[in-house]
Amino acid sequence: MICSSLQLRRFDASTSLCESLVDVLEQELRQLLTSGSMARPLGLATGRTMEPVYAGLVKRLQTWSGSDRQRLRKVWSSFNLDEYIGLEVRDPRSYQAFMDAWLGEPLQLSSSSLRVPDGQATDPDVAALNYSREVAARGGIGLQLLGLGANGHVGFNEPPCGPEQRCHVVTLSEATRHQNASMFGGNPAAVPHQAITLGVAEILAARDIHLVVTGRSKAPILARLLAMQRPEPSLPASWLLEHERVQLWADAEALSLA
Ligand code: GLP
Repeated sequence: MICSSLQLRRFDASTSLCESLVDVLEQELRQLLTSGSMARPLGLATGRTMEPVYAGLVKRLQTWSGSDRQRLRKVWSSFNLDEYIGLEVRDPRSYQAFMDAWLGEPLQLSSSSLRVPDGQATDPDVAALNYSREVAARGGIGLQLLGLGANGHVGFNEPPCGPEQRCHVVTLSEATRHQNASMFGGNPAAVPHQAITLGVAEILAARDIHLVVTGRSKAPILARLLAMQRPEPSLPASWLLEHERVQLWADAEALSLA
């Protein structure tokens, strides 16, 4: 059964999903050009789901005029959801490196406009608090992109979790370290045990949320989410049912058990 508060956008293939999502992102960025620093920042996600989205976005932005691209660089403002704690500066497995590779370098964005939580801070709790304050000072997130963890996490909000928590330090679950082990030589034990993540509270404060779910590996958790009538701490993404403007972008493989 499909619950009603998530607006489902179903695609046969992930390629057509990405194309349509890039349309939405392009529109948001055009809006950013007109409203400039008054606009709320973008909320960005990492992970395999986002790779073709960002590749498509970069390709699309290459069709913009040089002057529009230059203006975009000046007004760009985004906050990523999460970062591992304890990786070295410029570790290629960090989410900072991911963002630099997929968006920062191709679009020539400065690290001050493409923000990621500080996973190298000497005091990660303070870093999380400061990050939360910075997001709040910008009026909260405008458009929030989200992937879905195989255990139902959004950002790194691991189950069980409530809706009130703001940006915080989290201990990653065994399931998440397994899910993300491929970047760490296939060894879950090598995945950092802690991370900083925006909380569900900041996610729910976003103006618009786009949850992107692709591939067969996400089919079980997506089926569980879609069968839910109300949020439950055991499935962090289910808090999205409390938001009025959530679009769920899913391909046929991810929906194959729904
Ligand atoms: C990861 C990240 C999330 C990401 C999600 C899905 O652990 N913390 O930000 O959206 O899990 O990842 P993937 O797209 O690689 O399946």
